[in-house]
Amino acid sequence: MSFLPIRVSTLRGDQAIDFDTYVKINEKQILYLRKGDSFEGPRLKRLKGKKLKKMYIMENDEGLYRNYLTKNIEMAYDPKSEKSVQTRSEIIQGLQQSNAEAVIEDVDNAEAYQKAKDECARFVDFLIREDEALVHIIGQENLDKNLAHHGVTVATLATAIAKRLGTVDPRQIHILSLGALIHDIEHFYTALDVARPRSAFTPVEAKVYQTHPTDGARRLSEKRHMDPQVVKIIAQHEEQIDGKGFPVGLQENQLDPLAQIVSSANALDRLITFENVPRNSSVKKLMINHVGSYPLSHIQILGDIVG
Ligand SMILES: [Fe+2]
Ligand SMILES: [Fe+2]
Repeated sequence: MSFLPIRVSTLRGDQAIDFDTYVKINEKQILYLRKGDSFEGPRLKRLKGKKLKKMYIMENDEGLYRNYLTKNIEMAYDPKSEKSVQTRSEIIQGLQQSNAEAVIEDVDNAEAYQKAKDECARFVDFLIREDEALVHIIGQENLDKNLAHHGVTVATLATAIAKRLGTVDPRQIHILSLGALIHDIEHFYTALDVARPRSAFTPVEAKVYQTHPTDGARRLSEKRHMDPQVVKIIAQHEEQIDGKGFPVGLQENQLDPLAQIVSSANALDRLITFENVPRNSSVKKLMINHVGSYPLSHIQILGDIVG
């Protein structure tokens, strides 16, 4: 029997699967969830707790899996769908995470990049149209401190900031969300465990961390399919308006406006997801500990969203 790996993040929502799914334990595939079941709510949470990125299906079931995916995507993005915004948001969060993983893990893959780009446009339009979606997407706790999930949260917060500022060209918001989605790409390629507070980094680790924006940007800059604005966002996403960011320490007037938005959104989710700051005190912490580092208008919007 041969198996095919699939991304766990693509298995969201209440649509029953019509194929069996397996997990790999000691080089052996073990049946995990049977056809007829679905991956919503508590079951999804349990699965995320296991930090599994890949599951397996039988190779013969590939067609069924592809149909499931298409059905799920179309249902989630259909404005007339009868499914709740919560279920649709759960699915879309997973799809975005899967798109981020596909680009991050294979930077030469122009097709994966184009797919992520096209779906970012749908994602942004969904977030702008469905006010309720924002809360459901960022409300999905990043239990396994997953880098791609962090990317989706940052993309969601960045889109929300841009939407409320009202100063960003709507087409630019698509690029903004794509840059945010893969902003931390470089962490995938270093051995550094970033899913912990920065205060716990050794001096050597801190040094590796300092260069992740430049290294990530460089990794992508020569790819012909890459948008220069996405590269710029990655390069500047840790810069701050007071010049105290890194890797360069750029000043506010040297910063790309889109990168500024990603920087604010990223700072907040870094606190929540990796620094273990409780969600309800995260914006306060950002304001007090990093006063002047991020535009006040961004902080106010983040405060309205996260509380
Ligand atoms: Fe980063
Ligand atoms: Fe980040």
